[in-house]
Amino acid sequence: MCGIVGYAGAAQAGPLLLEGLARLEYRGYDAAGVAVQGDAGQIAIVREAGRLENLAKKTDCGLLLDGCCGIGHTRWATHGAPDKRNAHPHASPGNRVAIVHNGIIANHRALRAELEAEGCVFLSETDTEAAVLLLDRCYARLAGKPPRARAVQALMEMAARLEGSYAICALFADQPGAVYAVRRGSPLAAGRCSGAQAGYMIASDVHALAGYAEAAVFLADGEIAVMTRDALRLYDAAGKPAARPPEPIDADAGCAKKGGYAHFMLKEMHEQPRAVRDTLAPFILRDGDLLHADLSAAGLDEAALLSVCRVLLTGCGSAFHAGLAGRAMIERLAGIPCEAELASEWPSRLPPPEGTLAVVISQSGETADSLAALRLLRAQGVRTLALVNAPHSAMAREADRVLLTRAGQEIAVATTKAYAAQMAALGLLAVRLAAAKGRLAHGREHALLRALLDLPETLKCLLGEGESMKRIAREIGDAQSVFFIGRGIDAAAAMEGALKLKEVSYIHAQAYPAGELKHGTLSLIERGTPVIAVCTQREQAERMRASMAEAASRGARCILIAGEGCAEEAEGEVIRLPGTEPLFAPLLAAVPMQQLAYYAGCARGNDVDRPRNLAKSVTVE
Ligand code: F6R
Repeated sequence: MCGIVGYAGAAQAGPLLLEGLARLEYRGYDAAGVAVQGDAGQIAIVREAGRLENLAKKTDCGLLLDGCCGIGHTRWATHGAPDKRNAHPHASPGNRVAIVHNGIIANHRALRAELEAEGCVFLSETDTEAAVLLLDRCYARLAGKPPRARAVQALMEMAARLEGSYAICALFADQPGAVYAVRRGSPLAAGRCSGAQAGYMIASDVHALAGYAEAAVFLADGEIAVMTRDALRLYDAAGKPAARPPEPIDADAGCAKKGGYAHFMLKEMHEQPRAVRDTLAPFILRDGDLLHADLSAAGLDEAALLSVCRVLLTGCGSAFHAGLAGRAMIERLAGIPCEAELASEWPSRLPPPEGTLAVVISQSGETADSLAALRLLRAQGVRTLALVNAPHSAMAREADRVLLTRAGQEIAVATTKAYAAQMAALGLLAVRLAAAKGRLAHGREHALLRALLDLPETLKCLLGEGESMKRIAREIGDAQSVFFIGRGIDAAAAMEGALKLKEVSYIHAQAYPAGELKHGTLSLIERGTPVIAVCTQREQAERMRASMAEAASRGARCILIAGEGCAEEAEGEVIRLPGTEPLFAPLLAAVPMQQLAYYAGCARGNDVDRPRNLAKSVTVE
């Protein structure tokens, strides 16, 4: 994880670096730091533990730093405590070389031992310090070479010794005005800034560049970039000059505001109707009186769909939960065998059989486990579809096909609108596969697509009714544990509900397929233990009632989130969902559970947008 940024240009670097870091803070907020280089080459480093605001205070938002060239870092701790000592930038003695790093250097222990044996003294517990001390040594050995060639060669030599993933930006004290960068695995995008900021900026993602640069070059694996005020030069892993055309970037990206809401999470919950509408709109067409879906723009034309014999859905966290729901939708509608597996577990599974379409689901498109699964599947010759929200992400660039969710930038760490968009896109994929396989009777495709297109309005109504969940959130605020149960597709919805509650409120929450309660978990139910039951499928209503009764008779306080026709004879508190096609109802069920998590988090005084220990984009395995 972590976010890194670099700038070389005409303007003072401090404020630009601070602004860039603010836009990257979603990648980690354990500590932050900057290194700014003055005209004579001297490198000044300021680091602070905790949120970026601490660094902003210390540097008066960057104004106290003097120099037009610099690098910055916002940290999600992997090696070493989240304190000032371990904060980046890290530097070699006398600040000869300073670097910021995103990723993990897997062989840092061996490198540290080797460098210590050579007399190097480490000041932090980070893996990054091994990289900077190694770079310093490589650079020193190349003294006498022309400056740029020397630094490029030193970076190549350092990169050849590093194992793991990294995006690194570096400053050399004897090369004022130049920022160097190298990457493997972790992303980096660089763009030309104009006007008062004339120069070049580089960052872990384009959000930091938006508004400064109109286009960005995405560095390839192994590539080295050299940025000065006047030029961006690229070199391939062998040190040969490389070229790559810049891609346009959205000027508004990265400028997200809360728009009157107390938190980004609340705002993004309310953006779900738009996220779902924008995701579906490009793919649903009118043919006379009937609607039909066309996914050819995502590389899934009739022939491609007909050749799909099996679907594998993978992702992490909420994206995996969307995959579990997608499995149910695809199996039920298209009758195609379907498997959902956590991306982090994929390396220990057998390669999928021929005819498999692997769908890798990710909001960021950068999650390391999901990216690794995508790469492994591609290496195994499996056709891949990236279902991603970030069009410039590594997954969007590397997958065979891309189906974009159009939720817009998500800032709150807990996903809401991107999850809703994923659920809608998977519903669309299920309908399209079913139509291609001839599984839908006349008019059924139209009815299903109509139901998908009606979801935004239904979501809007539901979002206006948060009062019961606010009250329930207050009532369960002291619970030791909350259990979420559901059957079939609702078990996936329950898992998402439990994840939301634990990450935002820090209340322990666990989800189970309802039938499993009696096989062990019932022993945890005490008087007053909250049990949230999700039931959106009529055919499951009776069995869900039985599961709730088992829990209630042991003293549980049961709350039922019920789809149309699923709450008859239900006892206890019921949250009723508006009517929709039952297979799409779990998307609606997510809303009251998001509200529960949000209000419980607020009631406990948590930073709901940035829960402790987490980061938005998990770029380490
Ligand atoms: C939970 C949440 C995470 C992400 C997971 C995958 O609210 O947001 O569980 O879903 O880290 O992230 P992406 O979708 O970016 O791959």
